[in-house]
Amino acid sequence: MCGIIGYIGNRSAAPILMSGLRRLEYRGYDSAGIALVSNGAVRVHKAAGKLFQLEAVLPKRLGGKLGIGHTRWATHGAPSDVNAHPHVSADGSIAVVHNGIVENSPALRARLEAEGVEFASETDTEIIAHLIARQEEQPIEQRVRDALALVQGTYGIAVVDSTRPDCVVIARKGSPVIIGIGDREMFVASDVAALVRHTRQVVHLDDGEVAVVDSRGYRTMTMDARPISKSPATVEWEDDAYERDGHRHFMYKEILDQPEAIDRTLGGRLDRQFHTAHLGGLNLEPGELLDVKRVKLLGCGSAYYAGITGAHLIESLARIPASAEPAAEFRYRNPVIERDTLYIAVSQSGETIDTLMAVQEVRRSGGRVLGIVNVVGSSIAREADGGIYMHAGPEVAVASTKAYTCSLVALALLALQLGRTRDLSPEQGRRLVEAMERLPADIEAALATEPLVKAIALRFAHCTSAFYIGRGAAFPIALEGAQKLKEISYIHAEAYPASELKHGPLALVDSRIPTVAALPHDALLDKSISSMEEVRARSGPVIALTHPGDERIAERADAVIEVPRTEDVLNPVVMAVPLQLFAYHCALALGRHIDQPRNLAKSVTVE
Ligand code: G6P
Repeated sequence: MCGIIGYIGNRSAAPILMSGLRRLEYRGYDSAGIALVSNGAVRVHKAAGKLFQLEAVLPKRLGGKLGIGHTRWATHGAPSDVNAHPHVSADGSIAVVHNGIVENSPALRARLEAEGVEFASETDTEIIAHLIARQEEQPIEQRVRDALALVQGTYGIAVVDSTRPDCVVIARKGSPVIIGIGDREMFVASDVAALVRHTRQVVHLDDGEVAVVDSRGYRTMTMDARPISKSPATVEWEDDAYERDGHRHFMYKEILDQPEAIDRTLGGRLDRQFHTAHLGGLNLEPGELLDVKRVKLLGCGSAYYAGITGAHLIESLARIPASAEPAAEFRYRNPVIERDTLYIAVSQSGETIDTLMAVQEVRRSGGRVLGIVNVVGSSIAREADGGIYMHAGPEVAVASTKAYTCSLVALALLALQLGRTRDLSPEQGRRLVEAMERLPADIEAALATEPLVKAIALRFAHCTSAFYIGRGAAFPIALEGAQKLKEISYIHAEAYPASELKHGPLALVDSRIPTVAALPHDALLDKSISSMEEVRARSGPVIALTHPGDERIAERADAVIEVPRTEDVLNPVVMAVPLQLFAYHCALALGRHIDQPRNLAKSVTVE
């Protein structure tokens, strides 16, 4: 993995490829390269490191109106010039960029080496270039299909052939590739971000499909050469949504975006007459909603933590047993799939491989899955039986912020609708509808804590470890808060239900380890205050995240951050915000790469 871009048309390809790669930088990468086809030859330029390092090795004049480019996040072989994509066949005629993993690469490599092929890199991708080159002289799409028939694993690929300067061939199995339709020019990419500057008309390939793209159109077919017709979709987001708007970091911009983003998630979905939510995309009749006996939420990283809050919301409001599980664990433990369980996959990108595979596993066994997804037309959105789009707008920073809170809001809408088809009273429904309508304003108020949160961050940014605690609905607040801190500041942070402190972690607490305590004014507040006392008694500094109005907290905490009180089940949405800001200001004080933290990728599309 990570990012693919391709161009064919009348313009010089190189600047288009480079600007497309720049748009893909957010996904995280450690090397990059481009291949251009001109005068019957493929010319490849690549470099380890960031795009400016690739730019440094590019010749001043670069011909070619057809080309492909890639940003690589190393999986097979270290990040280096030779391992960067594109990879070229031994005769130099074929260049390939690839996201995914060739699982049978040792066997294929040995076979090719036995035939005399000399490999230039350690990558699995190079195998695909050699395999295509050795297929008999046939149309390029046939050669690509024959080569891919030998490959086990996952791929989204783009291929150019020096003898076919009129087309680029793409194929997909498990890793996205899309076609962007321009005016007498065409684009291919792994992510709409790379091409939305040029066009918002796109065609998504599905698994097992191949496409031949020329400057005027495209032909799509299955792996066994059956032609298929696909209709274009319109990308929801404009190019300028990918700009930082003058902010230093995308993460900061995305934190500030939250009131508007949540407004979009709510847009037109609240019903003041019947005090419920209307979610058009669920594809479930009210009777089917009533038949749901259990709910299982699946996701990875922050999306999994959103799932934990979602389970709490659904169980509280709809009284349906609900639980969350990391998608990767779920898919590999041979889970029992039940017809009356509603499975919900949460994913910002809609492309996380483990979540996607979990969706496929449920559907294969006859289960029903909803997707809570941000990227319209993404794999999970298309594979699920129905779902809710977050409409958070593009999230570029690796660390999730607005997509996290918007997924909580989408889950709250679902919980409300499920609740109101059951025992949630109109009065309870009314209170929730009103609280949800107030969320954007509550988030504004939470954002206004920034100067205070920044001062607290400057006080604690040099600690080496931190605990986050919370109980009930506040436990996932702690989980996500700790996740943000470790992701971007690299400070070790661990979250515990406050009740678990005395069963182990308290042994570590001393004056050097701050504890961030999420203390919503809910039924567990008194108990949480006792946990806070336990920390104080061991000289541990406490940063309390709470609502105004409880003197006991101010008396016992070293720092207090107050956000408006909302309905108990919605506190996780509002309380997420100061913890995002806390992590951000710690990371800023430590000079970290906030938008692209080390070792992390925005969307993990390989295992
Ligand atoms: C990566 C990102 C996380 C994200 C997770 C799930 O690990 O770094 O921020 O929460 O993937 O991503 P998804 O797109 O499925 O929400």
